[in-house]
Amino acid sequence: MYNLLKGKVGIISGALDKNSIAWKIAETAHAEGAKFVLTNAPVALRMGTIQELAEKCNTIVIPADATSIADWENLYEKATEHLGGKLDFALHSIGMSPNVRKKKDYGDLNHAWTLKAIDISALSFHKMLQVAEKMDVLNDEASIVALSYIAAQRTFPDYNDMAHAKAVLESIARSYGYRLGTSKKVRINTVSQSPTATTAGTGVGGFDAFMNYADKMSPLGNASAQECADFVISLFSDFTKKVTMQNLFHDGGFSSMGVSEDVMDMFRDEK
Ligand code: NAI
Repeated sequence: MYNLLKGKVGIISGALDKNSIAWKIAETAHAEGAKFVLTNAPVALRMGTIQELAEKCNTIVIPADATSIADWENLYEKATEHLGGKLDFALHSIGMSPNVRKKKDYGDLNHAWTLKAIDISALSFHKMLQVAEKMDVLNDEASIVALSYIAAQRTFPDYNDMAHAKAVLESIARSYGYRLGTSKKVRINTVSQSPTATTAGTGVGGFDAFMNYADKMSPLGNASAQECADFVISLFSDFTKKVTMQNLFHDGGFSSMGVSEDVMDMFRDEK
C-alpha cells in the first residue's frame, strides 16, 4: 500500500455486501490511510452485512436514504462530527431501478418507477452535492466520484431505464463540477465501470452472457470491483487534482472497441 489517502476524511455510500464495488473501495481507502464513515439506506442496513465492514474499517455506519434531503443533512452533521472536520472525498455508489428489478419491458415501463429510479440513482447525486454545498462540509480540493455505466452513451437493451438515470448522473457531475470547481477547486467525476457481479449488476437481465461478451470485447478484459476501487482511490488522491467533470471509462478498453477477434471468431463462416 502507498498511503495515498493519509490524513484524508470522507464518506462512502453503497456498500451492501462484500461483492459491492463500494465495499472494495472502503477496504482500499482504509488500507491507504483514509478515515471515513459508511452510509446506506436504512433497509440495506437490515439486509446487508455493512456492520462487518464498519468493524474492519474501524468506523461507524450512518443510515441515510439518498433521496431524502433531511437524511443527507443528518449524515453530514454526524459525519463531520465523527470525523472531526470537513470532508476530502465522497463516493456515490447508489443505483436501483424498480423496472429493472421487476423485469418490466422497456415498451411497458411503469413511469412512476422510472421517476423513482432516476431519483435514487441520479438526483440523489445532486442532493448529495447540493446539501454538501449549503452546509459547507467540503474542504477545498475535495474529490467526489460517482459510479456510472456505458449505457448512458450506447444502447444495451436489458439496462432499461437505468440508461436514462446514468445519463442524468453524468450530466450532474459536469454541472456541479463546474460550480464547485470554480468556488472551491472541488473535482467531480463519474467512473464508468465494466459489468461487475454485484447485487445491482446481476439484477440486470442476461447479466452473465453480457459480462462474458464485454470481457471478450475488451483488450484488457473486464475491470474487477477491486480494480475499480484502486482507480477510485487514485481519483481521491492528490495525484489527480486537475481531473474534473469527466466520465472516465474504467472498462479494459471496451468503450473504444468496434469488434474484437474473439467476438469475430464466433461469427466466422468456417466452410
Ligand atoms: P450494490 O447492489 O452492491 O450497490 C448498490 C447500492 O445502492 C446498495 O448498497 C444499495 O443499498 C444502495 N441503495 C439503493 N437505494 C438506495 C437509497 N435509496 N439510498 C441509499 N442507498 C441506496 O451494487 P454495485 O454494483 O456495487 O453498485 C454500485 C454502483 O455501481 C451503482 O451506481 C451501479 O449502478 C454502479 N455500476 C455497477 C456496475 C455493475 O455491473 N455492477 C457497472 C457499472 C456501474
